[in-house]
Amino acid sequence: MNKEKKMNKSIIVTGGAGFIGSHVVRLLVNKYPDYNIINLDKLTYAGNLENLRDVESMPNYVFEKADITDEARIRSIFEKYSPDGVIHLAAESHVDRSISNPLEFVRTNVLGTVILLNAARDYWKDDYDRHRFYHVSTDEVYGSLGETGLFTEDTPYDPRSPYSASKAASDHFVRAYGNTYGMDVVISNCSNNYGSHQFPEKLIPLFILNIKEKRPLPVYGDGRQTRDWLWVNDHARAIDLIYHRGKSGETYNVGGFNEWQNIDLIRSLCRIMDEKLGREEGESEKLLTYVKDRAGHDRRYAIDASKIKEELGWTPSITFEEGLEKTVDWYLENEAWLNNVTSGEYQNYYQQQYENR
Ligand code: NAD
Ligand code: DAU
Repeated sequence: MNKEKKMNKSIIVTGGAGFIGSHVVRLLVNKYPDYNIINLDKLTYAGNLENLRDVESMPNYVFEKADITDEARIRSIFEKYSPDGVIHLAAESHVDRSISNPLEFVRTNVLGTVILLNAARDYWKDDYDRHRFYHVSTDEVYGSLGETGLFTEDTPYDPRSPYSASKAASDHFVRAYGNTYGMDVVISNCSNNYGSHQFPEKLIPLFILNIKEKRPLPVYGDGRQTRDWLWVNDHARAIDLIYHRGKSGETYNVGGFNEWQNIDLIRSLCRIMDEKLGREEGESEKLLTYVKDRAGHDRRYAIDASKIKEELGWTPSITFEEGLEKTVDWYLENEAWLNNVTSGEYQNYYQQQYENR
């Protein structure tokens, strides 16, 4: 039987094989057995179907390997599934990679988003009210804060890296399609996520891996940059809420109410890892190595998430301490996953990124 036909709602989740996307797909597939969840992903270095082993045989889940910049293919996927909505997460997401290869970020994040928007605009043209395009974006579009202040939904855009510039551009296109064509669009801008299944190029999983393997921990600059950390499962809960109950045309900031300077977070991680690995206290901190700063490094991000809290009743479900411990446990228990994703291309990336710092 053609399973996409019997379900009562179809949602395309782009980037569903990535870090956040896989948590969103898992949540939706389990929570809504009568929905058809279509995971549309190109499977770049960051996309991994192993992330979804536990849901791949569920009757309400399908996978389509596709590139969001392939217009004909995207249009054919709309025809095939008649989606009621799109939750768009597919993107190039790593700031360091955007510094060495900005064009790839323009191609995927800007062009890819516009191609998706065009397909949605044309396929849904007779009834925009019953179809939603939701773009999952980042707090980095707002720029960099000083010692005080928070990003609100009204903070003017001031992107400062090729990555954040590409996300800002895609946000602008999404809003423009809402205004120009009357599409139902919604955007959320979230702070730094952490949790299971994150590719070990980002701070927390990279440092867990390096501590485990007793490799240097490359702290950029003075290590005093500040980020607001949110457990990825809580971001997935927010995305579910915003998709279903967020107001058309609105923006929602999502954050953990949880600011940390990098060096303090890294020291906590070292302590947890020493304990879990049965190492002497202070052993992992010896791996700290200050290296050349990231070009244009944003100093501080901090999110005011009161709108989603007040309007949709969302708050983070666990503390950072609990989340970090769960995350460390997951990486230590999933050595095979870590070995698979760090073979091949990862080695080249790591060498290029860190060898001359
Ligand atoms: P990720 O890099 O882990 O995953 C990205 C996914 O997109 C991968 O599965 C990849 O294969 C897929 N993809 C990339 N290019 C594609 C293309 N051309 N066509 C189809 N699929 C493609 O990213 P993530 O950390 O899970 O982030 C997901 C989204 O959330 C991104 O849009 C990112 O900007 C945003 N975001 C991330 C964070 C964070 O802390 N990680 C915070 C806020 C917002
Ligand atoms: O704020 C949301 C954003 O958070 C998302 O939009 C991005 O997709 C996501 O990658 C993340 O961006 P950051 O640049 O903040 O995350 P990253 O994990 O790369 O770095 C976190 C901080 O740690 C940042 O200040 C840089 C620093 N860092 C990072 C790495 C990889 C180091 O000091 N050393 C490192 O090796």
